[in-house]
Amino acid sequence: MKFFELREHHATYKLLDCGAGPSSFAAEQTALGWDVTAVDPTYALDETEIRASVRGGVEWMRGIMVDEKDRFCWDFYGDVDRVMKLRQEALDLFLSDYEEGKRCGRYRAGALPVLDFAPRTFDLALCSHLLFIYSDYLDLEFHLRALIELGRVAKETRVFPLMNIDGQRSPYVSAVLDRLGDAGLDASLEPVDFEFQKGATSMLVVRDNRSPDC
Ligand SMILES: C[S@@+](CC[C@H](N)C(=O)[O-])C[C@H]1O[C@@H](n2cnc3c(N)ncnc32)[C@H](O)[C@@H]1O
Repeated sequence: MKFFELREHHATYKLLDCGAGPSSFAAEQTALGWDVTAVDPTYALDETEIRASVRGGVEWMRGIMVDEKDRFCWDFYGDVDRVMKLRQEALDLFLSDYEEGKRCGRYRAGALPVLDFAPRTFDLALCSHLLFIYSDYLDLEFHLRALIELGRVAKETRVFPLMNIDGQRSPYVSAVLDRLGDAGLDASLEPVDFEFQKGATSMLVVRDNRSPDC
């Protein structure tokens, strides 16, 4: 909720969480009556396979937080152990919802830059810790194609954070701001009331301002 400045009125929105992974947003918000669809390539796996695939990533994340503690702002989480505890709770919540959610179509296997949804299926698409953070592996063309695709399936898209894995602003942010206009999308940066990677206090917002007939 804090990554994306979500508020109570978003409860009426049709939401997409893209690159949702083993996170608990869809499970928690569905329990509150929200309409959330989560997409990730790992949703082709079953529960046991997902649990196994998460293990290495969690240890890697812990290593970075311990070794480079000063790169993070600890106001929200407190310390590394609390991040790990919340991460585990999120994983457990997600997995407890996973098989049933898959049957209902809440968790769908899929991958950017091509999504299997009709235009404007969603009011708002969310994408956290996938775009920009892996700028060393996903190039600018991938970012542009992914954001244009999210802009096709959702009226608005929010992306957070805008840092790469080393804690520097991704070099693709300014290029994306410059070039999404060519695709008929308005892109801007808006502040968020959350900071974990130091300096990561804004999200990218992409809006499709074309008429519905375009
Ligand atoms: C670091 S995790 C972030 C998970 C969650 N959004 C969060 O913030 O906790 C990145 C996720 O992106 C997924 N992913 C990788 N490539 C993708 C793609 N091309 N399209 C959508 N998701 C992708 C991975 O499977 C992984 O679950």
